[in-house]
Order: sequence, then C-alpha cells, then structure tokens
Amino acid sequence: MNAIDVKDLSFGYTAEQVLSHIDLSIKEGEFVCISGGNGSGKSTLLKLILGELKPESGSVEIFEKEVSKISSFNDLGYVPQVNVVNKISFPVTCKELVSLAMYEDFGLIKIPKKKHYQKAIEQLNEMGLREYIETPFNELSGGLQQRTMICRAMINKPKILILDEPTAGVDLESKESLFELLSSLNKDKDVTIVLVTHELEAIKDKSLITKHYRLEEGSLELC
Ligand SMILES: Nc1ncnc2c1ncn2[C@@H]1O[C@H](COP(=O)(O)OP(=O)(O)OP(=O)(O)O)[C@@H](O)[C@H]1O
Ligand SMILES: [Mg+2]
Repeated sequence: MNAIDVKDLSFGYTAEQVLSHIDLSIKEGEFVCISGGNGSGKSTLLKLILGELKPESGSVEIFEKEVSKISSFNDLGYVPQVNVVNKISFPVTCKELVSLAMYEDFGLIKIPKKKHYQKAIEQLNEMGLREYIETPFNELSGGLQQRTMICRAMINKPKILILDEPTAGVDLESKESLFELLSSLNKDKDVTIVLVTHELEAIKDKSLITKHYRLEEGSLELC
C-alpha cells in the first residue's frame, strides 16, 4: 500500500503558483528525501501532505484516504522547520513537550495525566534523552532540541514521519547522530520517512535513501 499519494497537486498562496502539477507516491517503509532551493515550496508541500493547507487542485491521500477526511492524525508524525518565529519560547520541560503531543488522548480536561508523562519518559529514554527529561527545552542545544522534537513526533507511534530540515543549524556530529536515529526508526521500526534536507552529504549510509527528489520552479524531479 502507498503511505502517501500526491496526484496532480497545484497550490499557491496568491495568484502565483508555488507548486504546479506535482505527483509523488511514497510506499510504506520508504525513506524519501526532498531537496530544493530556498522558497522552492518544500515546506508548503509538506503542509499540503499534512492537511494544514488545502490544494488548489489535485489530491493528497494518506494510506488511500483523502487527507481532508482524516480525523485522527496519529499515523502522521511531523517535525516542523525550526526558525525564529516558531521557536518555542514558553518554559516547558522535555517531558512536558513530549506529553503534550498526546492531546488526542487527554479526555475532557485537556491536560496530560500521569500515564502520559510516564509514556513520554519511556520514549525520551528510548531516544537517548534520559538526562534531559526535566530540562527546559529552551536550554538544550539545537541538536538535542531536534532529537526531542523527533521524540515528540514519534510519541503516538506514527507510521509516517515527516521532517522539515531537522538538521539545519546543527553541528556535524549531531547531524550524523540525528540521521542515525532516523535510520533506526526506518529500518528497525518500519517508519516511512519523508525528509526535507539540504544536507544529504551528512548521511553516511546513502543506501538508506530509497528516493531523492528535487523541487525546482514548482515541479518535483526524481534525482
Ligand atoms: N503563509 C504564506 N503566505 C504567503 N506566501 C508564503 C507563505 N508561506 C510561504 N510562502 C511563499 O511560498 C513560497 C514557498 O515557500 P516555502 O516555505 O514552502 O519554501 P521552502 O522550499 O520551504 O523554503 P526554505 O528552504 O527557505 O525553507 C515562497 O515564495 C514563500 O515566500
Ligand atoms: Mg521550508
């Protein structure tokens, strides 16, 4: 079964088209990289796949279901592009940040319960973040912040993990360690990965990547 099916997708924020007639199909278990220049529409494409934006024309299906008809997004994990605007500025520990991603399970009173914190702690341990469970997220290095964001995105055990430049502004060693983490999620846990990145050179084991696309001038080309 295809995990993601994008068909003849076009989109623009204004009259000007950012994406025009994009086709993309990703099978379960694939590790797909998407690169392309600044402003080429990579983040926009991811937001359309996640149903955050609505296509002008064309369609997006997740496991053969139209994205606009999906009610629970627990199958999709998303690590958004970090920039000055969406940096988390309120004080929150790693444990809290990861727990908050389980909001669909919180019940009537929309706050995490003990079991949610417990699950967050287990997941942080599993991803090598044991030391930072109670650390304020803001105090972590960029690499550890991204690792925490991946942990957060994985908390509901999604089948697909979508990442928007998770290694931007991170030193080489942390980049390699983040790619190793993605590699183990893909190989050992069968998570389908869609990775927007400029930094393919930091991926040591290229055999990991099943497809590499470039987005230029609104269209997607297989490299
Ligand atoms: N909310 C928005 N409203 C209007 N235009 C937008 C909006 N978000 C992005 N754009 C424009 O759409 C185009 C594609 O932006 P997008 O962020 O998808 O590119 P990108 O490939 O992710 O770039 P980068 O490599 O810098 O992250 C750009 O021209 C951008 O200015
Ligand atoms: Mg972007």
